[in-house]
Amino acid sequence: MQKELSDWWEEQHKNNVRLWLSGYSKEQVVDFLELEEHLKVTDDMLNVGVGTGLCTREFFLFGINIDVLDICDEAIRKVSDVITTGYLKAEELPTNVYDLVVSHLVAQHISDEELLLQIICFLRALKPNGIIAMQFVDCEGAPRDYSVEAQRKGGVLRSKKEVENIISKTNGKILKWIGPKRFSHTPTIWYGVYIGK
Ligand SMILES: C[S@@+](CC[C@H](N)C(=O)[O-])C[C@H]1O[C@@H](n2cnc3c(N)ncnc32)[C@H](O)[C@@H]1O
Repeated sequence: MQKELSDWWEEQHKNNVRLWLSGYSKEQVVDFLELEEHLKVTDDMLNVGVGTGLCTREFFLFGINIDVLDICDEAIRKVSDVITTGYLKAEELPTNVYDLVVSHLVAQHISDEELLLQIICFLRALKPNGIIAMQFVDCEGAPRDYSVEAQRKGGVLRSKKEVENIISKTNGKILKWIGPKRFSHTPTIWYGVYIGK
């Protein structure tokens, strides 16, 4: 399944398909995940899911040392001039190095198993007071779908309870919830969570 997904993402990145790559700015990511104060104490950051690369570039220009994790090579290549290291697998992340791990518009593209593995690896990669700031999405009454198609199209929905259940399988602590936030153009409900050691 991971190979099927990484091949699909490789194609979206090569063809620059904005519908799936998003391309949110640093300002939009900071605003949604309420990161303003955290940026003041962030030297080293991991950005999960490169998309168009816009926010990675802007975090770099802001003066942060930045690594990225993405499922495909093409995404990492796109930002190779501004990152220190790009990782394709969460298991390969270093230990005790990040003040902040940001996952924005990624959780809805990955299975519960992959999300659990990522959170475990991110916790290991955090400095003692570091935080993981992760966005996720739900939609009232919508059925759960973990198929390859749902992962490609960002249709893996989760409630706070479901995310809490995944985090409870790690040794991480929930530090803060963000949301629910609703937007007029979509019935989806958006959340964020901070996880620490
Ligand atoms: C919708 S884009 C989000 C881009 C950016 N974070 C933003 O907010 O604009 C999703 C990104 O996550 C990457 N991605 C998909 N599955 C992933 C996984 N299992 N691990 C890490 N990155 C993944 C895709 O290649 C793509 O770059």
